[in-house]
Amino acid sequence: MIQDTQKRVVSGMRPTGPLHLGHFFGVLKNWVEFQDSYTCYYFVADWHALTSEYAEPGKIKGFVGELVKDWYAAGLDPEKCVIFQQSQVKAHAELCLLLGMITPLGWLERNPTYKEIRQELVSKDLNTFGFLGYPVLQSADILLYRPQYVPVGQDQLPHLELNREIARRFNYLYGDFFPEPQAKLTETAKLPGLDGRKMSKSYGNCIYMGEAMDSVRPKVMSMLTDTNRMRRSDPGDPGICNLYPYHRLMTPREQREEIRANCTGAKWGCVDCKKVLLTFLQDFLEPLQLRRRELDTSPGLIGDILNAGNERARKEAEATLDLVREKLNFNF
Ligand code: TRP
Repeated sequence: MIQDTQKRVVSGMRPTGPLHLGHFFGVLKNWVEFQDSYTCYYFVADWHALTSEYAEPGKIKGFVGELVKDWYAAGLDPEKCVIFQQSQVKAHAELCLLLGMITPLGWLERNPTYKEIRQELVSKDLNTFGFLGYPVLQSADILLYRPQYVPVGQDQLPHLELNREIARRFNYLYGDFFPEPQAKLTETAKLPGLDGRKMSKSYGNCIYMGEAMDSVRPKVMSMLTDTNRMRRSDPGDPGICNLYPYHRLMTPREQREEIRANCTGAKWGCVDCKKVLLTFLQDFLEPLQLRRRELDTSPGLIGDILNAGNERARKEAEATLDLVREKLNFNF
């Protein structure tokens, strides 16, 4: 049996913009929790961002540091986990190349995420080798650290399945080597956006992790609630209300029961309910903002965190790659 502290965790995010509460409750919450129990590697997937942003690569640079800031604000502690940047650990590229040799094209073409994103991003030409190979690079990212768990959002499950298939194929061809990493989802998984659809930058329905209360307040006050509740005197149904999932995440249980009773008993209007949510939302955002301010006063910190993390990740990744080269008789 491997002890928990020796179990490894790997995950990454693409640097494509500021993180919102959907990211926090869907993924980051697990990242933060896991750093106390496992050996964790968290990285900025800048090469992955390039698969869709290749025409304007300059944009990616600014987002790298911003992403690490969001992580730090969420509570990732560089003393407890390894925070690094994919493109600074070249082993990812070499393992990607080697895994590419054994990955059948059909697996990539059938990948549901690939099909969906190509349909969504019609404005970009994603008919490229790099974009098709996205899951191969992702497999390399993961397998280099031989982890047991990969904490991701629900949308990544098809990728993870493909990652395991690639690991299995490697083991079949060259002998047992890679563990098959399991996805870890948060309990809540999904947080609806302000309009009830999935929270997403492209829908403009987000509350950002770094957002000030002055900007959050009007957003919450204009949120859709239970759309069947026409009048103040109609009883509401938290089960179909778009606000209630927020209470579930942010409001302590006791108050939540009170809220539920006030809603279903038509004792409260939705405005009352929103005001209560705002107080708990503020309690939630405040510590994040404090940690973010710490960074503002030490401008070199993000660079230092990444440099140290890159170094540690390189060592680990190179060790795996040495063994992989051995398995392939490519240890010249
Ligand atoms: N595809 C992931 C996303 O879009 C990012 C990612 C890249 C990743 N490599 C990874 C996640 C490895 C987990 C493990 O969110």
